[in-house]
Amino acid sequence: MKEYATLTIDGKELKLPVIIGTEGEKAIDIRSLRQETGCITYDPGFANTGSCKSKITFMNGEKGILRHRGIPIEQLAEKSSFVETSYLIMHGHLPTRKELTRTSIMLNDQSMVHEDMQFFFQNYPRLSHPMGILSAMVNALRSFYPEIITTQEEFEKVFIRLLSKVRTMAAMSYKISRGHKVIYPRTDYTYCANFLNMMFDSPVNPYRLDRDVVKALNTFWILHADHEQNCSTSAVKTVGSSQANVYASISAGITALWGPLHGGANQAVIEMLTAIHKKGVGISEVVEKAKNRRSSFRLMGFGHRVYKTYDPRAKIMKKVCDKVLPKLKINDPLLEIAKQLEEVALSDQYFVDKNLYPNVDFYSGILLRAMGIPTNMFPVMFAIGRLPGWIAQWKENMDDKEQKITRPRQIYTGLNKSPYIPISKRDSDSEDDSDY
Ligand code: ACO
Repeated sequence: MKEYATLTIDGKELKLPVIIGTEGEKAIDIRSLRQETGCITYDPGFANTGSCKSKITFMNGEKGILRHRGIPIEQLAEKSSFVETSYLIMHGHLPTRKELTRTSIMLNDQSMVHEDMQFFFQNYPRLSHPMGILSAMVNALRSFYPEIITTQEEFEKVFIRLLSKVRTMAAMSYKISRGHKVIYPRTDYTYCANFLNMMFDSPVNPYRLDRDVVKALNTFWILHADHEQNCSTSAVKTVGSSQANVYASISAGITALWGPLHGGANQAVIEMLTAIHKKGVGISEVVEKAKNRRSSFRLMGFGHRVYKTYDPRAKIMKKVCDKVLPKLKINDPLLEIAKQLEEVALSDQYFVDKNLYPNVDFYSGILLRAMGIPTNMFPVMFAIGRLPGWIAQWKENMDDKEQKITRPRQIYTGLNKSPYIPISKRDSDSEDDSDY
């Protein structure tokens, strides 16, 4: 039976339909609200606003649940590969062996970057942040591939192209930023192995792939593959809602992800832990500072809009760090500091009351450091991982007949109607009405 919520305003009653998701989540459909009552809703940061119906990812922030197309993140992280999870997110089902092989072949076919793109890289200021370079490069892809996408097959090609080329571009930008020779992708390597090789191989020092590191990178990217309507995904969809092309939309997502409150947090966590280590600051002092309302300092890698318990991805990331660092014989003092910080914060009343737990970014930087990834590349690593989610969500939005151009409203709090006052009357010293 259909459910309704009743809203009473100015003595008028309005029956609003209730939408129920497959996991029992409820939403009040307020689409008729303004037309019927003249009112709008007020919800800064859209914390209580559902912008769409989606079949891709389910999250329950109170219980710490994350599932892609129904499959728990814990199972994907343990058993799947990044390419397989990307396929799952994009297509809605796990691939058959044949489909997975075909996807891998297509990824290899698309892995080269147009040689002309090197000019972009070469002419970018050397000290640019890699996220700035990446968003510009992805936007530029439209000029290299200007075709209009109309069929599912064409869209599949764009999906593969982005997944494959963004990875190559990321490694290429790193090599160029160091003034090193660009290493081309190899068709005999898997997606993750290829990336590591393009990053770290060199003519004088051949890179030796380590099975556990390749597995850890797969897990890292699986953990970032999608996270429903987060800031960067919403940016992708907002830009896409104006019918801007997919490359421009993904480029906007990269830019949104860059901020330290979102994907830039993994870089900010390492900078915070490094500062604690170098300055020898006590853990309790750091926690006290994060609690101080007069300080803008926050415990980076803590807190989440949706998770009000431990982020399930952070749990997995911590376990991967505990496995991979000893294997690589790395004794990173930052891991110890992070664990101490977590212990102190989780027993502190401020963090308990506000449900602030480690998020995915808290331990991910430590893993990336162990792999040899430079700190300013951390958000780029996040961006590569988030590509399947961005693209699948962009497509879902495009196919959703209920969607419209994104255009929130506002409550105006400025001056009421005021007359224009000529400059001669505003300024008593002025003798001339003219601007010239
Ligand atoms: N350290 C200290 N206090 C915090 C923290 C933190 N990391 N996070 C939230 N708080 C406090 C806020 O000051 C606020 O306190 P108040 O109610 O007394 O004003 C309260 O907790 C709620 O915080 P909001 O900022 O209102 O929560 P919101 O849902 O808007 O923000 C966010 C979530 C941005 C993730 C926030 O927790 C934060 O800034 N964390 C640090 C940055 C970070 O780790 N970002 C990565 C997020 S995960 C991701 O994007 C992959």
